[in-house]
Amino acid sequence: MRYFSKRALSGHLLWGLALSCAVSTADDANSPYLYCTTCHGADGNGNVIIGAPKISGMQEWYVRNQVQSFLAGWRGDHVDDDAGAEMQAIAGLLSREEELEQVISYISGMMSVPADSTVDGDVVPGRVLYQTCAACHGLKRRGFVQ
Ligand code: HEC
Ligand code: HEC
Repeated sequence: MRYFSKRALSGHLLWGLALSCAVSTADDANSPYLYCTTCHGADGNGNVIIGAPKISGMQEWYVRNQVQSFLAGWRGDHVDDDAGAEMQAIAGLLSREEELEQVISYISGMMSVPADSTVDGDVVPGRVLYQTCAACHGLKRRGFVQ
């Protein structure tokens, strides 16, 4: 199976799947979102230790783009991208369009709790550097819906 490379099945993935019963609290026991809670958390707020980002509150088009990018193999395929390889393996489980759509609507409907800050940085030069990004992500950093 393409999405279950030896590398992806090692480490965090096995760890995550082993824990899935213990930490999953999604309302529907059969929900495809159960796969996701092991790494992204029951609240979708991510897990910095294993490099799983916050996904709660992401807009539908963005989640769909990312899952499709993993499936298409242009995200998570690089030999040094262990985090991406883990997620690519999981995207492979969402082969049915119906499941993908269920997961997407579940995620985009989750309440988005602001994540704790995990980086130290200097805001002043950061604000200047952000000017490059503002054209697409907006001056208020809220992005633009596709
Ligand atoms: C084994 C752990 C694991 C599981 C289970 C998992 N993910 Fe991920 N996910 C990750 C990691 C690690 C990344 C970061 C990949 C990267 O750095 O490119 C990620 C990234 C993502 C992203 C991209 C976020 C962004 O900011 O671009 C989305 C969307 C996503 N996951 C959705 C899901 C969904 C939906 C499920 C359940 C069907 C799921 N994930 C299950 C580990 C996991
Ligand atoms: C030309 C337009 C453009 C510019 C300029 C740009 N971005 Fe982006 N950025 C995008 C698009 C489009 C996406 C979504 C890509 C996708 O769908 O996979 C994105 C995605 C991202 C993400 C992932 C968001 C998430 O929720 O996971 C981050 C982080 C990001 N950009 C940071 C930056 C930073 C920092 C800069 C400036 C240094 C910047 N971008 C400049 C267009 C841009």
